Amino acid sequence: MTQDKKVNDLISQMRTAVDSARAATAATPAPTFSKQPAPAMPALAKTTETNQSRALLLLINELMSGVETRFGIKPGTLVERKLVRIFKDMPMETLRDWVESMNNCSPDHSEWQSLVENLTVHETYFCRDPDLMSMLADDILPHLLNLRKTQKQLQIWSAASSTGEEVYDLTFSALRAMQKAGYARLFDGKLVPESGWGLFVFGTDISNQALRTAKGAMYGDLGMGSFRNLPDEWKGMFEDVKIAPANAMPGVKYFKIREWIRQCTRFERFNLMNNRPPVMGMDLVFCRNVLIYFEDPIKKAVQTMLARAMSPGGVLVLGASVQMLTPEYFESRLGKGGPWYVRNDTRV
Ligand SMILES: C[S@@+](CC[C@H](N)C(=O)[O-])C[C@H]1O[C@@H](n2cnc3c(N)ncnc32)[C@H](O)[C@@H]1O
Repeated sequence: MTQDKKVNDLISQMRTAVDSARAATAATPAPTFSKQPAPAMPALAKTTETNQSRALLLLINELMSGVETRFGIKPGTLVERKLVRIFKDMPMETLRDWVESMNNCSPDHSEWQSLVENLTVHETYFCRDPDLMSMLADDILPHLLNLRKTQKQLQIWSAASSTGEEVYDLTFSALRAMQKAGYARLFDGKLVPESGWGLFVFGTDISNQALRTAKGAMYGDLGMGSFRNLPDEWKGMFEDVKIAPANAMPGVKYFKIREWIRQCTRFERFNLMNNRPPVMGMDLVFCRNVLIYFEDPIKKAVQTMLARAMSPGGVLVLGASVQMLTPEYFESRLGKGGPWYVRNDTRV
């Protein structure tokens, strides 16, 4: 979905919310703002246009800062400007009422959830960064398999997994590295861990829409879609789909992740702003192409939460452009696919 489409969806959603708030206000004989000393409408009618737009801007900023404190995302000025244009003809008190009610809602409330669905960017695809994928296969996974050869278990978390491509990349790569190390084998066309070995790959995201696609594990062969960068040897991850998904696009061919890959995975909703991780003892954590939307103090809080979720010796991979802000918990390494960070023993 393009950013413009997202913004338009957001705007139409907010328009509906404001309309329903306005209808509710009209239906109520004693509006809540009547407690204020001066009635809001006459006072507003007297305000100058400049004062009105200043008030509108303040309300929009309040809403946007609500988004940032609840989800970390700092919406850009484009969204802000579009919202101003839409809301400028709305009765100010209705809008104020709605923003106030949003202020009192938890991030899990459906209204915030709808807003965040429209503000998040779900762009992702298989084998998104080939250099990182080869560093994963050649350096990171062998390091982790050696570390876990006694426990015989590898636990991986993709924090902000979007529609699931990264989770399935990680699962397939881990199974192939396990096969290379002699900890998995090809059986009946399937790559399966050797007896006693376990692989668990967890994907989380704030977006329920993205999680639904991830769990469905079905991807369409669109020009710039999930398969835009797929190397031939990765095609073994997929099987043809006989029944297309309910929202299938005409003329698009769909493929499904094979069952032996899917069975190592699990998806759940998780907000990175939560300082309690949803899983502990992780050996490998990917948190890519999401922290770029956050300010430094939030980035640092998220990195601390990720460090809490990890075992000593575990590896954290952030986007190449994201600075490591919690060096007290990690030792840095630099490979051909960018930096990776090894968790030390320091307790969080
Ligand atoms: C661009 S995608 C990145 C997907 C994948 N990691 C990759 O690199 O291809 C960013 C994802 O971050 C998610 N996201 C944004 N803010 C979040 C938050 N506060 N908590 C959890 N996920 C969030 C979005 O919903 C979106 O699916």
